[in-house]
Amino acid sequence: MDIMTYEQYKECADYVKERIGGETPDVALILGSGLGDFASRIKDPVVIDYREIPHFLVSTVESHAGKLIFGTVGEKKVLCMAGRFHYYEGYSFQQLALPVRLFKLLGVKVTILINAAGAVNTAYRVGDIMLIKDHIKLTGDSPMGGANLPEFGPRFFDVTDMYTASLRKLALECAEGSGLTFHEGTYMFFTGPQFETPAEIRAARMLGADAVGMSTVTEALTAAHCGMPLLAFSVMTNMAAGVLPDVKLSDEEVGEAAGKIAERFGNYMEKVIERI
Ligand code: HPA
Repeated sequence: MDIMTYEQYKECADYVKERIGGETPDVALILGSGLGDFASRIKDPVVIDYREIPHFLVSTVESHAGKLIFGTVGEKKVLCMAGRFHYYEGYSFQQLALPVRLFKLLGVKVTILINAAGAVNTAYRVGDIMLIKDHIKLTGDSPMGGANLPEFGPRFFDVTDMYTASLRKLALECAEGSGLTFHEGTYMFFTGPQFETPAEIRAARMLGADAVGMSTVTEALTAAHCGMPLLAFSVMTNMAAGVLPDVKLSDEEVGEAAGKIAERFGNYMEKVIERI
């Protein structure tokens, strides 16, 4: 089941801690497909290739860079993962606990997750941003499955308010004047790598999903387990399968749509980070 020991997590974190000069990041971000550009806004960056970090995983997706970047955004110390890990790459749910556990051991105060997603809610438009207020994951596994590591959290844990309400309030306050349209909604996880079928999207809508994607929930659950405050955003890069007639979904379309809002979303994220 590929469960790392607490000592292995520590080795990973100790290495990163040393590389970033013993600093404690205020905020850590995981960027999504086509949204890696945000990393270029980080001032005085220390860039660490994932391959240099003990026990770390490797990004196999082209649109994900595979670098950990530490530096400042305004007054805040920021650690940023440009390149995330997904279940569809062959990683187990348990392996996907690693990034947020690294953040925890480094003393990060808030985790921000960003993803590209397909809009299920027909009132949403491509380029809109959804603040995740809850999620649906019907796949039968959990990043916390298998032996529990009590150093991070308890065996059974509450996820009622895992997308921290006070941070969502702050994020919505920052939305004004951003030039972007915001919603609050429910994200539904699908394993990928195939996009969903139109029937799956109809089912997702009936279940209460507003957007679908192939990431984020493992990281969010890991944050909830270790008591880490969490903020998560989905960028609507496409209408989900079957919503529009005669449209085929592709990674290029996802990248293009993300690219169009990257500048405005980057400005917005800077504002959020400064106010956290
Ligand atoms: N489905 C799943 N993941 C995605 C999508 C989608 O429509 N768009 C971007 N990531």
